[in-house]
Amino acid sequence: MTLGADIPRTGTVVLGIETSCDETAAAIVVDATDVRSSIVSSQVDLHARFGGVVPEIASRAHVETINPVIAEAIVKAGVVDGDIDAVAATYGPGLVGALLVGVSTAKALAMVWGVPFVAVNHLEAHLYASFLEDPSLELPAVVLLVSGGHTMLVAMEGHGQYRLLGSTIDDAAGEAFDKVARYLGLGYPGGPAIDHVSNQGDPHAIKFPRAMRDEGFDFSFSGLKTSVINYVRKHPDVSTPDVAASFQEAVVDVLVEKARRAAREIGAKGMCLGGGVAANSLLRERFLDACVQDGIHGFLPSRAMCTDNAAMVAAAGWWRLQSDGPSPLDTGAIPNLRLV
Ligand code: KG4
Ligand code: ZN
Repeated sequence: MTLGADIPRTGTVVLGIETSCDETAAAIVVDATDVRSSIVSSQVDLHARFGGVVPEIASRAHVETINPVIAEAIVKAGVVDGDIDAVAATYGPGLVGALLVGVSTAKALAMVWGVPFVAVNHLEAHLYASFLEDPSLELPAVVLLVSGGHTMLVAMEGHGQYRLLGSTIDDAAGEAFDKVARYLGLGYPGGPAIDHVSNQGDPHAIKFPRAMRDEGFDFSFSGLKTSVINYVRKHPDVSTPDVAASFQEAVVDVLVEKARRAAREIGAKGMCLGGGVAANSLLRERFLDACVQDGIHGFLPSRAMCTDNAAMVAAAGWWRLQSDGPSPLDTGAIPNLRLV
C-alpha cells in the first residue's frame, strides 16, 4: 500500500503555520501534495550570538514576523483569502511562547474566514514531509526522525498509525551536533557547520564510541559528545576537521545501522528521513545506500523539507482534517506533546 493511494483530489487549500522554535513559516499546500508556496523566515541570526535559541527572543520575533510571512505565502501561491479551506498550525512540541503565536494566529484567521482550524503535532508534520514529496512511498515505512529536539525511529503503518520503535535516552542527534560544534568553535547552528567542515577531515582519524549500537532501537549521544570533548582536551593540536568528520561518522553509523535493523524487523517496504539532521550529507548518502542494498523504497526529503517549514504542517493538517475533522478552538499549545 502507498500512502498517496488514498488522497482524494478535492482541491482543498490549506494554509500551514509553523512557529514551534526559531523559524516563522507559512505555506499554502493543496491536497497535501501540491506545495504552492512555502515561506520560512529564520531567526538564526538573532540567536547565534547566544549559541542557542533564546525562548523570549523567539516569541517576540514570531509576533513581528508572522503576519508578513503569511501574507507572502498567500501572495506567492497566487490565491486569495477566500480560497483557503483550512488553517493548520503546530501546537506542540516546542517552546510554549513560540507555539502560542502560531496557534493564536491560526485560530483568529480560521474564525475570521469561517474555515476549520487544525492543530498539528510538529513531529507528525516532520513524518509527513517525505510523503508530501513522494506520495508513492510504501507502507509500512520506517521513519528516522532526527532533529534538534528529537531522535526517533518510528514505524508508520497507515495514516496516523505510528509505533515508536526507539528514541534517544539523552541528547537528540541535532543537539549533539550543536554542542560538539560549539565546543569546536564552529558556531551555531552546529549541524550544517560540522557537515561542511567534515568534508576536509578524515572520518576514520579518531575512533569515537558507538553507544548502544547492538541494543534495541534506542539511542544515546551524550557519551559521544563527552568523548569528543575529552579527546580534544587531551590532544589540543588535533585537526578540527578530523574531529568533526570522526564525530559525524560515529553518529551516522549508529543512525543508519538502527534504521536498517528496524526496517528488517517490521518488514518495511519504505524508509525515509525527517527532521533537521536529515539535511546532513553523510547521513543522506549512507541512508540511501542502505535502502538500495536492502531493496527498500527509500526517500530523502529535499533539504528545505527536512528543516522546520510550514508545508509539512499544511500536509499533516490536511490528513488530520480528513481523519479527525476540525480541532476545537480551545486547543492550546502543548510544549511537551508526544507523537505516540
Ligand atoms: O528540525 P529542525 O529544523 O528543528 C527542530 O525541530 O529541532 O532541526 C534543527 C537541527 C539542529 O540541531 C541543526 O544543527 C540540525 O538540525 N541540522 C543538521 C544539519 N542541518 C541542520 N545536522 C547535521 N547536518 C546538517 N546538515
Ligand atoms: Zn522540527
